[in-house]
Amino acid sequence: MELFFSEQGTGYPVIFLHGFPFDHLLWEPMKKFLPGDNRFIFPDVRGFGKSLAKKSDYLMEDMAKDIIQLLDAEGVRKAIIGGHSMGGYIALEILRQAPNRLDGIILVASHIYADTEEKQSERFNTIEQIDFKSLIELLEGMPNKLSTDEIVQTYCKKMVEKSKAIGVKGALRAMAKRQSSENLWITAATPKLIIAGDNDQFIKPEIIEKMAINGRNVSKIIIKDAGHMLMREKPEATANALKDFINQIRSR
Ligand code: MLT
Repeated sequence: MELFFSEQGTGYPVIFLHGFPFDHLLWEPMKKFLPGDNRFIFPDVRGFGKSLAKKSDYLMEDMAKDIIQLLDAEGVRKAIIGGHSMGGYIALEILRQAPNRLDGIILVASHIYADTEEKQSERFNTIEQIDFKSLIELLEGMPNKLSTDEIVQTYCKKMVEKSKAIGVKGALRAMAKRQSSENLWITAATPKLIIAGDNDQFIKPEIIEKMAINGRNVSKIIIKDAGHMLMREKPEATANALKDFINQIRSR
């Protein structure tokens, strides 16, 4: 599927994939802190923003293929690919499908594990209720769990309200059915960076620590006083963390 994207700058390509239920504008506050000598590409992943989906029966594999297709269409042979939360799951799936397209992978408040059975049934329950309840009712607790910053909470609420049922269903299904990337994380030589907030209510510090230890070529940066929405809560610190990793890879 052809995706909408925005871009900034020219030079070495870096792709940023937003999480659930956001769009390419997620990264907006951080953009002014990013270096000018890169081509940053910010797609709307399938089902969100301007990349509307017609059906919701797709998988993480399809969401990854969309991005590989975008790389092909834009003449990008290799890039660093970063993803926030669900965007990180997509980035991991790209690493599985096309490892030679990545010079580096960045997980921003994301992780490598598959859903627990409990999480899967929670997602399927939400899918079943989507046609009967509003998204804001269904994802009620989510905005305040994403961040303690009121401005960021308001943004999250707006994004939940704006998101389309087909995309939400599709993404929930794709996340529920995705496979674990634990093995890939250990075997792939691709440099890996984890950036996480120290106050993330979705991904606890012990999970981040476990991923940092059980992986190949993994670095980790913890952003202080930030939650799951660190690129909006601490945009400059998040951009700086990314910058160092991008520069290290470019100077190889
Ligand atoms: C996200 O922030 O993209 C989602 O909360 C991830 C998830 O539900 O696993």
